[in-house]
Amino acid sequence: MTDRIIEFERVVAGYSPSLTILNETTLDARRGEITLLIGPNGAGKSTVLKTLFGILVPRDGEVRFEGRRINGRAPRDLLAEGIAFVPQGRNLFPSLSVLHNLELGGITLPRAELPARIEEVLQRFPRIRQRTQNQASTLSGGEQKQLEVGRALLLRPRVLLIDEPSIGLSPRLVHDVMTLLRGLADAGTTVLMVEQNVRTALKYADRALVLEMGRLALDRPAAELLGDPDLNRLFLGGKAARVDAGRPP
Ligand SMILES: Nc1ncnc2c1ncn2[C@@H]1O[C@H](COP(=O)(O)OP(=O)(O)OP(=O)(O)O)[C@@H](O)[C@H]1O
Ligand SMILES: [Mg+2]
Repeated sequence: MTDRIIEFERVVAGYSPSLTILNETTLDARRGEITLLIGPNGAGKSTVLKTLFGILVPRDGEVRFEGRRINGRAPRDLLAEGIAFVPQGRNLFPSLSVLHNLELGGITLPRAELPARIEEVLQRFPRIRQRTQNQASTLSGGEQKQLEVGRALLLRPRVLLIDEPSIGLSPRLVHDVMTLLRGLADAGTTVLMVEQNVRTALKYADRALVLEMGRLALDRPAAELLGDPDLNRLFLGGKAARVDAGRPP
């Protein structure tokens, strides 16, 4: 089986027929790696995740999961196939308990299997375990993000899509969330992450893809990009393509 678990080949997508956001976008994410998707605001990073998860249907090109075309497949099908999506922002039911939020994440599982799956997830998150009866809204921002990831893990996804997990978190909690994602990747899960907190995210990622105006502008090992003296310049004004093209051999 291919190592490229996720592939976009010349994908064209947008929110209306006259508004093209992804403009023949070609990229991939590999098994057991954290692939970091970065780029200026409005570049189309979230749109890549939404297209992958079936929220947007591509107008052209091909989206593949483990080598199979998934264009036009519905999110619930993709979830059942092993792709989970943690969108940007808060996605919990704030007035429901932590446990109830977890149960809703496992609603497609056989009922008898749910308690063991929840237990499996809670083992990863001791702080969440202590709070299962509390309202989700009473968790700290970092704990809420952990709960969202935990809820996504209930279905044991092979691919985790996550959009800006560090927003609103203290540096310490960002570290916790990134460490969690690193652990998942090391255990074989493919992680595709959008993150504005570039310098921190690069420390945990394997590869960095820079998206500009709906196209891949740069594809580099994360460690290499992190050590690049041009890194600051790359992310101040979206000059990735030009800087890269002008790099000495
Ligand atoms: N639901 C929508 N309807 C119409 N246009 C949208 C919608 N969502 C996003 N867009 C537009 O698509 C473009 C790309 O948006 P997208 O959310 O993918 O960018 P992004 O790279 O994730 O940016 P950010 O870093 O700000 O999150 C933007 O111009 C945005 O205004
Ligand atoms: Mg976004």
